[in-house]
Amino acid sequence: MFKFTTRTLRLALKRNYTTSASGNLPVTNALKGWREKLKDAGVEDTDFNLKCIVSHVLKKKFNTVPDDFAQLEFNSSQLSDFERFLEARCARMPLQHIIGEWDFMDITLKTAPTVFIPRPETEEFVRLVIENYKNDKQVNMLEVGCGSGAMSLSILHRLPFVDAIAIERSKAATALAWENAKLLGLQERFKVYNHTMEEDKYMPDELKDKKYDLIISNPPYVKTEEFQFLHPEVVVYENLNALDGGSDGLRVARLVFELACRYLRSGGKLWLELGNEHPPLVKTIMNLKYQGRLKFVDSYYDQYKRERFVQIEKV
Ligand SMILES: C[S@@+](CC[C@H](N)C(=O)[O-])C[C@H]1O[C@@H](n2cnc3c(N)ncnc32)[C@H](O)[C@@H]1O
Repeated sequence: MFKFTTRTLRLALKRNYTTSASGNLPVTNALKGWREKLKDAGVEDTDFNLKCIVSHVLKKKFNTVPDDFAQLEFNSSQLSDFERFLEARCARMPLQHIIGEWDFMDITLKTAPTVFIPRPETEEFVRLVIENYKNDKQVNMLEVGCGSGAMSLSILHRLPFVDAIAIERSKAATALAWENAKLLGLQERFKVYNHTMEEDKYMPDELKDKKYDLIISNPPYVKTEEFQFLHPEVVVYENLNALDGGSDGLRVARLVFELACRYLRSGGKLWLELGNEHPPLVKTIMNLKYQGRLKFVDSYYDQYKRERFVQIEKV
């Protein structure tokens, strides 16, 4: 039978916990007070957060854990993990970093501190791209700024005829994307280069003669002035290079336009996820600056009815 260590026993007594007949602690007892602490710390959706952390501690799939946690128990080390993770969450560490992995579309990705956490609306973007390419036979894709690999790897997972190359400025993200590719068994169709796209050095030397059918990117697009409105999870724990799009949010996207002129084959497409003010601006930039080179095809809305995604064609 499991026995509490002296430390956790002391903790259990201090918190007025009641143990079960097995000597373990019912999860419902361990939860006491944490909902309020999370709320006080400004964490939204506390029930979801608690259930994610309980599932993670018990190494169970989220959807197999009952909402009322009935019959679930923590042993001693699980209880101390649970408390440690909740303390981190009260300090507004993102759930994804606490848990160390996150589901995106139908794949599970490892996460790492400083690497951009894939967002739910990016799943919508990826679905849109998949929908447009699902009947193709062969697609050479390039991703600019792949982060954890979420977009490329979920497309590769769904569409077996796609090959993908990604460039990424962060060393940590480059390593993580490669690790995720291997964990998902996609390393044969995926390559990632640690490269910062810059004016006049858009691609690494070894790729400078290659052309692509499709370029995708979710570039940093937050306007610098909007940083003051972001949650602590983002400002404190995420890498600002993954977010900062300069004064109009399009600093990196403008580099992607130039890259697309050089590296898309004629008729190839550039798909971008951007902020909701950007699609009309991008359309204007295409008309004013890229006539005869790039053509604005269409824009698309996310589930919150915000115009967020654009499709551009190489003329
Ligand atoms: C908003 S994140 C998107 C990450 C990933 N595509 C996703 O959707 O989860 C932008 C990514 O672009 C990378 N990045 C920013 N500027 C870059 C540049 N000039 N060249 C290459 N990568 C860049 C950042 O490091 C970051 O990983």
